[in-house]
Amino acid sequence: MTANIVFRLCSAALCFGLFGCERQVSYSDDVQPILTESCLVCHNRAGEGSVTSGLSVSSYDDVLSGTSLGPVVIPGSSESSNLYRVIAMKTEPEIRMPPHHDVSLAEGRGLPLSEEQIKLIKDWIDQGAKNN
Ligand code: HEC
Repeated sequence: MTANIVFRLCSAALCFGLFGCERQVSYSDDVQPILTESCLVCHNRAGEGSVTSGLSVSSYDDVLSGTSLGPVVIPGSSESSNLYRVIAMKTEPEIRMPPHHDVSLAEGRGLPLSEEQIKLIKDWIDQGAKNN
């Protein structure tokens, strides 16, 4: 009985410790550099992606304002956020981002983000999509 309680307390402490150790993702240090490298070329207010969708990733405020149809980031819920869904291959193939059609691939810019980059954006949204 006592051993059981001790075991439970230890697992709770370990669990808390692990979650406590989970890194807080930073918008400016982690997320903006990914968007700048892979998305800004089209989503820069004047680019192809901004003209068609209205989405600019030039700044935190732009990212949070979303497209002409509405937000693409729902703080706290990556699964409801199109910014995450389009990079994590959870949407129709035509709107996966960055678009990997022949033209963009030939220009060397249609490659999907790495697992690590996708996870950073997911965690940033799930941690509240803060301007940190
Ligand atoms: C080669 C140009 C190009 C690049 C690079 C690009 N996009 Fe796009 N993006 C577009 C176009 C064009 C649309 C409009 C697609 C449509 O509405 O059919 C779009 C639409 C979107 C949308 C709106 C989807 C919706 O309907 O809600 C999101 C979110 C998005 N892009 C995110 C990104 C992200 C994140 C990156 C970087 C990983 C990225 N894009 C890179 C061209 C681009």
